[in-house]
Amino acid sequence: MTSPPAGTRPAPVALASSAGDGGSVPVPMTSPAGDGGSVPAPMTSPPAGGGSAPTPRQGGASRVAPTPPQGRAAEGARHAVPGDAARPALTVRGLRKAFSGRTVLDGLDLSLAPGEFLALLGANGSGKSTALRCVVGLETPDAGEILVHGDRLGGQEAGAAVRRRLAMIFQQIHLVHRRSALDNVCAGALGRLPLHRSLTPILFPRELREEAMACLDRVGMADRAAEPAGRLSGGQRQRVAIARALCQRAEIILADEPVSALDPAAAEQVVALLADLAHDQGLAVAAVLHQPDLARRHADRVAGLLHGRAALDLPATALTETDLATLYAPDRQAAGRQATTDDHHSGRHHPDQEQQ
Ligand SMILES: Nc1ncnc2c1ncn2[C@@H]1O[C@H](COP(=O)(O)OP(=O)(O)OP(=O)(O)O)[C@@H](O)[C@H]1O
Ligand SMILES: [Mg+2]
Repeated sequence: MTSPPAGTRPAPVALASSAGDGGSVPVPMTSPAGDGGSVPAPMTSPPAGGGSAPTPRQGGASRVAPTPPQGRAAEGARHAVPGDAARPALTVRGLRKAFSGRTVLDGLDLSLAPGEFLALLGANGSGKSTALRCVVGLETPDAGEILVHGDRLGGQEAGAAVRRRLAMIFQQIHLVHRRSALDNVCAGALGRLPLHRSLTPILFPRELREEAMACLDRVGMADRAAEPAGRLSGGQRQRVAIARALCQRAEIILADEPVSALDPAAAEQVVALLADLAHDQGLAVAAVLHQPDLARRHADRVAGLLHGRAALDLPATALTETDLATLYAPDRQAAGRQATTDDHHSGRHHPDQEQQ
């Protein structure tokens, strides 16, 4: 793999914040969770997270012109006017994916610029996770294009090299609990280490351990480097997972509900950290969030998925309650159906029925 741009290297200076115990659990794509004996090589690199205190959104963040929706995706969609000419770090064009004949992604278009923090919103089942999984190679799209800094991702060896520029963080953090935070972070570099240097953590080169320490420092976890990951809180583990992504030297960090398992304070810290990494280190960061307020406070842009298409793509500050009502209508409809079913089974009647 190519060496990352300077902007993606972990800064040797720690964040001001020292995150406390987060409750959340972001996980790198590859690593198995639990107490494995060996440190797994992460499939994709995780981003660095910080324990920084919530910070106001940074006005200098880039605004990338979203790819205009096409076909039916354009119907009723709300999109920002293209403006920024920055070359996207990630471009998704016309992504399609169906499971057992049921369409999940229906021509999804998305772009993500270096230095940008994009929040992905959408109702349950709208295709957010499937989209990220297609990008990192966990699912094979039926159609469409995925480009990383202009290089098309295929299924070949070259595609794997390009994919190492991507890191994914999950809600469930995949760290080896018995290994130290430092060893887990070193594992982020396994994709670029010769095999004999990566078979056992004791062989991690000194320079790698120094780099991993810098990554831990970046996320406010340097003082816990020797701690077994299993003894850390959820929020701390998530920050270690982010440090592992930094050590992977990922240029693009994709996070699927990285804070859904965290308490509100830890969630704010981790999301703020992801924003800092985008704004300070030039990483391209996209995170699925189920908390629109977090997106408003920290993201530069929001993209909303509805039935597998981009229904909106706007600056985060432009997100309205009407937009949210549109995006989450499927959730409300599902809840309504559930309530109706519950009423039916309990013998209760809907108020409307009682008036009849
Ligand atoms: N491997 C799979 N096999 C069959 N169906 C799948 C598979 N993965 C996802 N789906 C279906 O695709 C649809 C979209 O799922 P996806 O996980 O992408 O939604 P999501 O937007 O991430 O939802 P949530 O907010 O609940 O996480 C769902 O109906 C889901 O059941
Ligand atoms: Mg999901």
